[in-house]
Amino acid sequence: MTPGLRPLIAGNWKMNTLVGEAVDLARAVAAGAAGSKAELLVCPPFLYVAGLAGLLKESGVAVGAQDCHAKAKGAHTGDVAAAMLKDVGASYVILGHSERRADHGETDAQVKAKAEAAMAAGLTPIVCVGETLAEREAGEAEAVVARQLTGSLPEGFVNAGGVVAYEPVWAIGTGKVPTEADIAALHAAMRAQVGAKTRLLYGGSMKPSNAAAILALPNVDGGLIGGAALVAADFLAIAAAAG
Ligand code: PGA
Repeated sequence: MTPGLRPLIAGNWKMNTLVGEAVDLARAVAAGAAGSKAELLVCPPFLYVAGLAGLLKESGVAVGAQDCHAKAKGAHTGDVAAAMLKDVGASYVILGHSERRADHGETDAQVKAKAEAAMAAGLTPIVCVGETLAEREAGEAEAVVARQLTGSLPEGFVNAGGVVAYEPVWAIGTGKVPTEADIAALHAAMRAQVGAKTRLLYGGSMKPSNAAAILALPNVDGGLIGGAALVAADFLAIAAAAG
């Protein structure tokens, strides 16, 4: 944790849940959210952002999306603009997740443009960075992340309250987690690069059993949770571990 920064526990639901499941999950998270020291955020698929934003309005649980387009509007079939997300009640948007970088070839420059669009629309961007296993084994993790941060974070990101999520690609959905020393070292390097005001999340196979230890590390200001965010009790247990 970083003194003065409220921890953020964010659920990335990815391409999961039918609408009934999404509503049940959101309700269960809301039911356990009262009194949470951490800020709670759920990021469902686009289709459910509006509905869940309405459902969670009084709960204190924020709603975000998992992507947005870099342009404000126009001829971009199938895409969703940041202003649309803001308009239906989203407050955050995850950008540059490694699955989008891999599945859609998103580059740092595109992520930066999306973060600019998000900020212009009044959304808080959560920009994801992280090395592959080959990069980690080659001793390049810190250099890769530093390069991604340089390329992906627009001017004004820090002052806009932008959030960074460090998610080693090899730890996502695999049950593998870096050592606490490795997470601490990586987060210290990110802290030195982005300054004291930016919340730095860890993501990648975070679960109730490892959350307390990870969240206690210096410069870890919350978590971006995938699989465990689909089980309300697990997500809430992680949130409780944040303090
Ligand atoms: P995981 O996913 O918790 O299932 O590893 C994290 C993420 O991709 O955001």
